[in-house]
Amino acid sequence: MLIPRDRRHALSWAGKLLAHNRPTWSCVSRRSVLPTATISPRRFATVTPETPKKPYYITTPIFYVNAAPHVGHLYTMIIADILKRWRTLNGDTEAQLLTGTDEHGMKIQQAALAAGMDTQAFCDMNCKTFGALAKAANMDYNYFIRTTEPAHKDAVQYFWDMLNHRGYIYTSKHEGWYSVSDETFYPATQVQNSLDPTTGRKRMVSAETGKEVEWSSETNYHFRLSAFQERLLDLYKTGFIQPSRYDKDIIKSVSSGLQDLSISRPTERLTWGIPVPGDETQTIYVWLDALVNYLTKAGYPFPPGKESQLGWPADVHVVGKDIVRFHCVYWPAFLMALDLPLPRNVLVHGHWTINHEKMSKSTGNTVNPFFALDRFGVDTMRFFLAYQGGLAGDADYDNAYIIRDYKKLLQSGIGNLAHRTIGCSKKQLRTYIVNGTTGGLPPAQEHDLAFERIVQETPAKVATHMEELNPRAALQEIVDLAEKAQKYFHAAAPWENQTERQRALYNIVESLRITGILLQPFMPTKSKELLDLLRVDNSDPSKRSFSAAAFGSDLDYGEGVKKKILFPQLIVED
Ligand code: MSP
Repeated sequence: MLIPRDRRHALSWAGKLLAHNRPTWSCVSRRSVLPTATISPRRFATVTPETPKKPYYITTPIFYVNAAPHVGHLYTMIIADILKRWRTLNGDTEAQLLTGTDEHGMKIQQAALAAGMDTQAFCDMNCKTFGALAKAANMDYNYFIRTTEPAHKDAVQYFWDMLNHRGYIYTSKHEGWYSVSDETFYPATQVQNSLDPTTGRKRMVSAETGKEVEWSSETNYHFRLSAFQERLLDLYKTGFIQPSRYDKDIIKSVSSGLQDLSISRPTERLTWGIPVPGDETQTIYVWLDALVNYLTKAGYPFPPGKESQLGWPADVHVVGKDIVRFHCVYWPAFLMALDLPLPRNVLVHGHWTINHEKMSKSTGNTVNPFFALDRFGVDTMRFFLAYQGGLAGDADYDNAYIIRDYKKLLQSGIGNLAHRTIGCSKKQLRTYIVNGTTGGLPPAQEHDLAFERIVQETPAKVATHMEELNPRAALQEIVDLAEKAQKYFHAAAPWENQTERQRALYNIVESLRITGILLQPFMPTKSKELLDLLRVDNSDPSKRSFSAAAFGSDLDYGEGVKKKILFPQLIVED
């Protein structure tokens, strides 16, 4: 296998590396099957070795541009963004968040054709909608990648060349059932007969996704996925997949044996993609192309010595449960084949359903995320999706649930507590804060001490959940603090007792300050409003950072606090 001269020039240092590593069988034809015996033994570590300090790197899946985004896509974006903002809250200003669009493949090719548009123009148009959604969701992303970018094409072709160079690619005839909607082949054991409910037409569908499959028989390139069974099984023992409930199915399927993977399609079937280097009759399989996006934006092919400068390996890939196999089987196997460090974790989430059926563009039961953001506000949606969305399971979507949570937890919860605390303090809040921080308050009673303990313990609990990649549990912890603060407020009745009022209001305002700090990754705008309301210094970032979420740690806030409605009446009721 040889690297085409023009690309060798474009990737000159990479070409040198490749030339340096070229094995004795380097001139074997691209289309010939490399005998297994020629594959040299590989150095491999299943646990990613400690790399030098690198930016923390989080990714969303890249979104197919065949149709408009829906609330399920918004959820994926928000979960990844919360993880990124959590890093920022902890003072990590280097953390990187990557999102973008997946623009190649049969599905896009067909959708553009159906729209009567030029395929690139179709991608340009729909890509903008995903970009607009990322902005509307208030995502703090660093890169927005498109798989039609020239740099990505170079990265994918180089990646292919390296797989080929190491003997992991061969050609053979492939027969099987292909689903355009899922962009994957299914073995015969995983398809079944079905009737199209609208037309009554008989068809074959995937047993897993219910998506139509078509028979295909073609010669294409294959990747030696079967060589990685043991290494993959070892990888799953390291907690690679989170939450761990998704392990079971993957381990079962990998243990039952891995088939080599078809990684190209003949150009007569698929033109909209990246050509196989040196073979214009074949187009690279869209999932291989798509997965490499995570490397492209990390600077792949890596200049020598700069492997991890831009963040590789990824710390977390956030993905929906329908794409676990691609991220937890194919992707690590590709990387293992090239001795590239593996992502530290894949964080899987469940699906949003409507009437308990998966929200999906092909089913047509989608909720337009722009309408939802416009109707309820970005922070309400971020709160709702993170609070109710399932990582380990699915969650049902309904406007009534959003309104219920808004009223109970935000409006009557945090918002009302802030309002009443400020009102009840009768302009003395600053005095209570000074006395509380300097030990000048009347003695604490048992219920004060119990509540103080809760406030003290909450930040560490939130941190543990976040480090365990469980933003939902972290948010539940914060909401729990607000609920306990309300109960404490009622029990302490600060409006009745002048002496007790001081400590109760101090403790509650501390809980509100800490709530405001901890809520920042989840509700960037509303948490800022809350911290502004409490007059927490905004010019000194340390005052709003995670380290400031410690009971009694801020002597300076609360000057001139005035009541303000944080969560107004929703204009539209369901
Ligand atoms: N293009 C691939 C991903 C390639 S990543 C290298 C893809 N795109 S997608 O647009 O179909 O889906 C993007 C993400 O949205 C996936 O994580 C998917 O799980 C998620 N969701 C799609 N429908 C969803 C719900 N109903 N609920 C939650 N997430 C959903 O797959």
